[in-house]
Amino acid sequence: MTTGFVGRKLELALLDKRLARVTASGAGTALVVRGRRQVGKSRLAQEFCDRAGVPYLFYTATKGASPVEATTEFLAELSNSSVPRDRGLVPAEPTASWPDAFRVLAAVLPDSPVVIVLDELPWLAEQDEIFDGALQTAWDRLMSRRPVLLLLLGSDLHMMERLTAYDRPFFGRADNLLLGPLNPAEVGDALSLQAADAIDACLLSGGLPGILRAWPDGVPALEFAERECADPASPDQVELLLQATSAARELCTRRHRCAAPSSRPLRFPPRNSSAAIKPSRHRAIVIGIRSRKRVVCGCRRRGANSPLRRRPSIAR
Ligand SMILES: Nc1ncnc2c1ncn2[C@@H]1O[C@H](COP(=O)(O)OP(=O)(O)OP(=O)(O)O)[C@@H](O)[C@H]1O
Ligand SMILES: [Mg+2]
Repeated sequence: MTTGFVGRKLELALLDKRLARVTASGAGTALVVRGRRQVGKSRLAQEFCDRAGVPYLFYTATKGASPVEATTEFLAELSNSSVPRDRGLVPAEPTASWPDAFRVLAAVLPDSPVVIVLDELPWLAEQDEIFDGALQTAWDRLMSRRPVLLLLLGSDLHMMERLTAYDRPFFGRADNLLLGPLNPAEVGDALSLQAADAIDACLLSGGLPGILRAWPDGVPALEFAERECADPASPDQVELLLQATSAARELCTRRHRCAAPSSRPLRFPPRNSSAAIKPSRHRAIVIGIRSRKRVVCGCRRRGANSPLRRRPSIAR
């Protein structure tokens, strides 16, 4: 079972590099961090902020909050954060709109580098149709020439793509980091498993860190799956297996060529099968895992101790 922060060395290095660029140039850099739910976007950003050693603001939007509620919460977070050079400059009165809130932010920025995190960004855009435009204007006119590293987080792929698409206000202003699941090496480290067991665990958990938190140290994938399925009170058993199969497919198709012992490629349930899944299928999936036993015996033959790596994907 893992309690501390796991892996993400490449992603943290990538964020460090951007902060170094901001520090050296004195100009702003924006990065969109997106990925499926529960993959670890918020935790990565928080870990980076904790390690960065510069003032930061971490604002998480609340789904369904009106623009006034959202900006009020934003200013309260700003006032409590280490960012303002003078807290007295943050007005106690709520601002009516995002353009006003961004003006306040720009007015209190210090001359030294800061990190600004806006988490769950799609929920802001969903509630306020001028949000995207307000962010672009504030960035272009007030923040991009200041030493600001702006991290925009969100799990709704469509919305996050929309934010930086060609016909959207923020187009061309941000890099894009698609955060994938933890890789087998990271899963192995977190659960103290050897290479082959680590890949089994990665396939079952889908590399989702939230699942690993419930996974006892050193327990192989099959045993964990059986324990979960045998526990009728385990609320996550359906979700666990569904997420695992879907994320494992993603993992396999993207980077890792995994073959069953028979050399036939692994098959996963259709992507949209979640609504149709029945409890009896849990057992079928576990039995499937059991019958394959080591899904990575090919890797074992090539050398189970060779390091396992995955690079984060980043594009402008
Ligand atoms: N690298 C990590 N090491 C340890 N625990 C992690 C790591 N990444 C995420 N977690 C844990 O996994 C859970 C999900 O992570 P997080 O909330 O960051 O996901 P998210 O992508 O922001 O999800 P959502 O889209 O639902 O907001 C949290 O409990 C978090 O503490
Ligand atoms: Mg989050």
